[in-house]
Amino acid sequence: MSDIWTDLSAHRSRTETTSIADLMADPKRFDNFSASLDDMLLDFSKTSIDKTALELLLTLATDRGVATKRNAMFAGEKINITEDRAVLHTSLRNQSGPVMVDGADVMPGIRETLDRMATYSNGIRSGNIAAANGAKFTDVVNIGIGGSDLGPVMATLALAPYHDGPNTHFVSNVDGAHIHDVLAGLDPQTTLVLVASKTFTTIETLTNANTAVKWLKAAVGDDFGKHLAALSSAVEKTSAFGIDPANVFGFEDWVGGRYSIWGPIGLPLMLAIGPDDFNEFLQGAYEMDRHFQTAPMSENLPILFALIGIWHNNICGYATRAVLPYDQHLLRLPAYLQQLDMESNGKRVATDGTPLTRNSGPVVWGEPGTNGQHAFYQLIHQGTSVIPCEFLIAAQAHEPELQHHNDLLVANCLAQSEALMLGRQTAPTEHRVFIGNRPSTTLMYRQLTPRSFGRIVALYEHRVFVEGAIWGLNSFDQWGVELGKELATAMLPKVQTAGENADKDWSTAGLLTAFHALK
Ligand code: F6P
Repeated sequence: MSDIWTDLSAHRSRTETTSIADLMADPKRFDNFSASLDDMLLDFSKTSIDKTALELLLTLATDRGVATKRNAMFAGEKINITEDRAVLHTSLRNQSGPVMVDGADVMPGIRETLDRMATYSNGIRSGNIAAANGAKFTDVVNIGIGGSDLGPVMATLALAPYHDGPNTHFVSNVDGAHIHDVLAGLDPQTTLVLVASKTFTTIETLTNANTAVKWLKAAVGDDFGKHLAALSSAVEKTSAFGIDPANVFGFEDWVGGRYSIWGPIGLPLMLAIGPDDFNEFLQGAYEMDRHFQTAPMSENLPILFALIGIWHNNICGYATRAVLPYDQHLLRLPAYLQQLDMESNGKRVATDGTPLTRNSGPVVWGEPGTNGQHAFYQLIHQGTSVIPCEFLIAAQAHEPELQHHNDLLVANCLAQSEALMLGRQTAPTEHRVFIGNRPSTTLMYRQLTPRSFGRIVALYEHRVFVEGAIWGLNSFDQWGVELGKELATAMLPKVQTAGENADKDWSTAGLLTAFHALK
C-alpha cells in the first residue's frame, strides 16, 4: 500500500519534466496558486506545485494531524514533551477569551505584565521615569542573545519608521568588542540597560550584564539600579543580580526564547515605538493566529507556506531556502528566521525519540535585495544547486519622496522571480545560458506597518510549527545547543591557564598550545 509521501514522490517523478514556465500556460495559474489574508498575498505560482501536488500536500497535512496539533498548541496542551511544557507564545498576543494552563487562565497575568510594560515604557519615553540624575533617558542598551536579542533587533529595525523613543542598542556577543564598542558611544548618566534572558543563566548575557553594571556603577554610583531592568522567566534570579523588582518583567516558561518577542523580551521595541504601536504589532499577529486557526487548509497561509517548504525540501530535495526581503527594514529577518526555523526544526528524532526517516529543517539563509543580487544571486541563477527563493516586498515605502527608489526595488524583485523561472536558453555561449525553472515564492503586503509586520512574524512562526508537525518532531526544545555550552564551561580553565592537555584530542590540544603561544 502506498503512502502519501510515496504518492508525492511518484507525482514529482512523473511531472519533473514539466517546467514552471509550462505550468504558467494556465491563465488561472496565479489565482489558483496564491492565497491572501487582507492585504497580504502569498504567490506560489512560480513553483513546480501543480493541482495534484497541492491536493496531495493538503492530504499530507491532514494525515499528519496538523489541525489537531495546532488546536492542541492553542489549547495550552503540553506539546513540548521533552521539557513538559505548553507552547503559548500566542497567548501573549491573544485579544479574546481565556487561555488555560494547568486549569488556570493565564490571560490576567499576561495583561497585567503588558500594562506594566506600557506604564514603564511611557514613563521612560516621557522622562517621568528618569535617570539617577533626573535626566531623561536618551539610550537603551538591550543585553541578550538568541531569542532574547534577535527578535528585538530585527523588530526594532523593521519598525524604524515608527521609532520615536530613546535610541536602542543591542549587545549579544560575549566578545568584549561588542559591549566595548556599544558603550563607548554612550553616556551612562542617560542610558538604561535591559538584561534580557529567559533563563538568566546564559553566560554570555550575564558576562555582558556584569560589565554594563560596572560601567553604570562607576558613573552613577549607588543609584545605578535606576538604570537597570530585567526581562526574564526566572524572576528570582534577577533580584540576586541586584535589579529592583519594580523593574523586572516576567514571563512563563511556556514562551520559548525564539518566540518571545511578543512579551517582556519585546520591551526594547515597545520603548522604541511606544505601547500603541506595540499593541498594533500584537494585533497583527493575533489576526494571523485567527487565520491559522480558522481558514480552510487550502487558503491557510501558514499551512500553504509550510507545504511549499515540504515540497521543496522533502520531495524536490532542495536542502536550503533563501529569504530575500526587498525591504531594507527587514535587514535582520533572515538572521531571525535562522534561529526560529533552524533551532526549532533542526532535529534528527521524532517526538517519540525514533530517528526521522526524512530530512527535517532546511538551511535558511538570505540577505535583503537588491544587495544579494550583486553577491550570491549568480549561484542561484547559474549554480548547480537549486535554491528556492522566498521574496518579500511591500507595495508602499515609507519614503514617498523617494518613490523612484521603490519602483526600482519592486522592478528588481519581480524581475528576479521572472528570470529564475524563465531563464535564458539561447545565448552566444553556454556561459550565458540560464536554465531557468528555479522556484520562488513572493510575499507581498501593502506596507511594513506594526500590524502587517506582526502578521509576517506570526506567519513564519506557524509555518515552522506546521513543518515540524508534518515531520512529527518537537519544534520547541533546543537540546542541540547544550553540548557546546557544557564543553565551553569545561574548556575555560584551559584557556585561562596554559597546562597539560593530555585529556584533549590532538587538534584541540594543538590549538590550545598555539593559543597560549600567541597570547
Ligand atoms: O541558544 C540557545 C538558547 O537557549 C536559545 O534558545 C535562547 O533564545 C538563547 O539561548 C538565550 O537564552 P536566554 O534567553 O535564557 O538567555
